[in-house]
Amino acid sequence: MAKENKNNELMEKIISLCKRRGFVFPGSEIYGGFAGTYDFGPYGVALRRNVVDAWTKAMQEHENISLIDSSIFTVGKVWEASGHVSGFSDPMVICKECHTKQRADHLLSSIEVKADEKITEKEINKIFDENRDKIKCPVCGKKNFGQISAKSLLATSTLGMFEEGDAQVYLRGETAQGIFINYKNILDSGFNKVPFGLAQVGKAFRNEISPRQFLFRKREFEQMEMQYFVPEKDARKVYEEWRIERMAYYERLGIKKEKLKWKQHENLVFYAKDAWDIEYEFPFGWNELEGIHYRGDYDLTQHQKFSGVDMSVYDEETKERFIPNVIETSVGVDRTILMLLSEAYTEDEMNGEKRVFLRFKPNMAPVKIAVFPLLKNKPQLIEKAREVYKNLKKEFGAVMFDDNGNIGKRYRRQDEIGTPFCVTVDFDTIEKDDTVTVRDRDSGKQERIKIEELVNYLKNKLG
Ligand code: GAP
Repeated sequence: MAKENKNNELMEKIISLCKRRGFVFPGSEIYGGFAGTYDFGPYGVALRRNVVDAWTKAMQEHENISLIDSSIFTVGKVWEASGHVSGFSDPMVICKECHTKQRADHLLSSIEVKADEKITEKEINKIFDENRDKIKCPVCGKKNFGQISAKSLLATSTLGMFEEGDAQVYLRGETAQGIFINYKNILDSGFNKVPFGLAQVGKAFRNEISPRQFLFRKREFEQMEMQYFVPEKDARKVYEEWRIERMAYYERLGIKKEKLKWKQHENLVFYAKDAWDIEYEFPFGWNELEGIHYRGDYDLTQHQKFSGVDMSVYDEETKERFIPNVIETSVGVDRTILMLLSEAYTEDEMNGEKRVFLRFKPNMAPVKIAVFPLLKNKPQLIEKAREVYKNLKKEFGAVMFDDNGNIGKRYRRQDEIGTPFCVTVDFDTIEKDDTVTVRDRDSGKQERIKIEELVNYLKNKLG
């Protein structure tokens, strides 16, 4: 219990820092908020960009992976073919006392009974019934729930629906379907040949009944997905290679090994051949960060069936046509950001004072360098500091000029933003030796560096 409280406290601290410093704000806040939505401020956007860039770069290290960008709005048939219309739902129960709706799997996990997200409706009903007498409503505290009913996660729209009987329009529930429905276009345009991968970054929408844990489960979120199309005979080997690669990727982002682990799905959906998640130890416990799934030929076969378009390719060796298997890697931008914030949030003591800082790996930090004049009312200091700032900004881009408040306050602000280096122009700079101080975020140590050597010095440090 003590550990749980401490972890909740950590989440509260992260959420509050994000708001205080302009990373993330609750959605529609001035109108009282809108659960499951969050808006990103300047540092949050910079962090998002870094996350997306790192993922895109990792995908582009492969010669045969291309990027696509598909529509958010699709015709309903896409989601009928994928199985989302009939089978993409959350198990909901109503408290008969206070009439609030709750997710049955969340209620089960509150009494430490496991119910995998991908469990069937029949199985969760059975587990819920077996535990009914132990499950308390988190709102009114009573133990009186109705039967579980499935609530579709697909978000719908009335876009273009002016006529009665028009087909339902959906906002995409995952970016993956946009890839499957464009696989044939990519093949036909001669861009790639099997085996190849299509990668996409984009928004997805889910009618999450109980969005929770800040950026972990949102209603509007961003996915980074890659679907790799491969002949069945090579699929297992390729799957293992992707599993190794994706785990190594997180270590490259600076995530500690002991905070990551594998979890194999116990209840596979009928078409899947294997499914593993990379889990991260979030402040609220171990939870899915990324799914790496071997999906067989289900997706392409379904779209072939529903669209009537041939999805097969010709095999030169066997002289037969076949539908490729799919290996999928799928991770959320928002979940990655929450992981980076959780990993980076640090409290320590410096010069006898408590401080909070975000220990991002420099390549992930939203601001790489902040430049200060020692005093804000000395024109000579300001002029020199602006000159240094302009030079560094040209070279590094994410550089900030900061003359707000005294130097101690500026250090505290930059620590909370996670800026790895602060450069200060002082009287020695202009009167003595053309050097500046460079302060390291993690150790607080300062070094004097000649301005002419500053770019190279920081390049080495930032890596
Ligand atoms: N195409 C497979 C797919 O969408 P998923 O497990 O539902 O599988 C993949 O989602 C990833 O997308 C998750 O591992 C997570 O990182 C992210 N994700 C899913 N639902 C999310 C939500 N409601 N809020 C934030 N991220 C989410």
